[in-house]
Amino acid sequence: MPPLPKFLKNPLVWLGALLLLGALAGGAYVGIQAVQAAPPQPFPYVHSVHLQSGIQCIYCHPGVLRGKSAGLPTLQKCQGCHNNIDPAGKPALEAWADYASKNKTIEWVPVAIQPDFVYFNHNPHIAAGLNCEQCHGDVSKMTVAQSQGDQNMGWCLSCHTRQAPEKQVKLTDCATCHK
Ligand code: HEC
Ligand code: HEC
Ligand code: HEC
Ligand code: HEC
Ligand code: HEC
Repeated sequence: MPPLPKFLKNPLVWLGALLLLGALAGGAYVGIQAVQAAPPQPFPYVHSVHLQSGIQCIYCHPGVLRGKSAGLPTLQKCQGCHNNIDPAGKPALEAWADYASKNKTIEWVPVAIQPDFVYFNHNPHIAAGLNCEQCHGDVSKMTVAQSQGDQNMGWCLSCHTRQAPEKQVKLTDCATCHK
């Protein structure tokens, strides 16, 4: 074995390297957590099952075509289908039938939400041909919606600055996103 370079014989160098590795691993862990975190919901809704049965996103989130808020389905909207689905013998369906019989409303916990001082509207994004997955991840594989990490000003701008040059002035203007 060739002799170690002199500085590697210093225990402080090894300690430093270990701390650095630890910090990197810790950072990766926090990063993975941030992407996968989903807040606890009042009921463990399952996106994948509904999307496999061919239901469209806009059926439950019709606001994406109109304005700022995509909207989350009310308990009545769920029951529009589930009143006609026999839950017998299927534990997940029975659990929902039980919940629906005991509650009149359901308050879903927001996952992808911007502060009030940010102006966002789904409409121009859908009109420009973006699909839901580009911003919300592959929801068809999710149960409840998973947070996609920090969707901050840098995130918006990283996409806006990739659009056609003649659109840059508008898309990077402070007043476009802060009314
Ligand atoms: C360009 C990125 C982008 C695309 C594309 C996009 N969204 Fe969003 N979505 C957002 C942002 C940003 C928010 C947070 C808006 C806010 O808080 O004002 C959001 C919020 C939501 C919410 C929460 C709404 C609420 O009322 O609480 C739902 C549901 C949603 N989007 C569904 C969809 C669906 C379905 C599609 C595809 C048809 C879609 N989004 C496409 C960025 C996007
Ligand atoms: C457009 C019709 C429709 C709507 C609206 C709908 N569902 Fe469903 N749901 C279905 C169908 C179809 C299935 C699959 C039934 C089966 O397994 O036989 C299903 C399955 C389920 C299951 C079982 C999931 C599993 O793991 O097997 C639950 C729980 C559920 N829905 C809850 C909800 C909730 C909560 C809402 C409202 C947010 C809702 N559904 C809205 C049609 C609908
Ligand atoms: C049958 C109804 C139904 C369908 C269809 C559906 N969703 Fe949802 N969605 C929900 C419910 C209920 C919630 C609230 C619970 C949760 O966060 O998962 C939700 C939450 C979300 C959220 C998080 C919103 C927030 O509060 O910030 C996003 C993003 C989302 N859905 C995207 C989609 C996309 C994209 C599709 C199509 C690929 C889709 N959904 C199809 C019922 C539905
Ligand atoms: C994945 C790419 C992408 C992301 C991420 C994104 N946007 Fe956009 N945004 C677009 C595109 C494309 C347009 C439409 C440009 C056009 O064709 O006019 C647009 C248009 C807009 C408009 C309308 C501008 C006008 O002409 O009036 C607003 C407001 C806006 N975005 C805000 C936001 C905010 C706020 C965020 C972050 C929370 C965001 N966008 C994230 C791609 C994106
Ligand atoms: C494409 C959309 C977009 C544009 C353009 C934009 N912002 Fe923002 N800005 C955001 C979003 C989203 C947030 C909130 C998320 C965050 O904390 O970064 C934000 C947050 C901020 C904040 C609060 C920062 C904090 O840490 O809480 C300030 C201040 C701000 N923006 C100023 C500006 C100024 C000044 C400009 C013009 C040079 C500008 N923004 C352009 C989307 C935008």
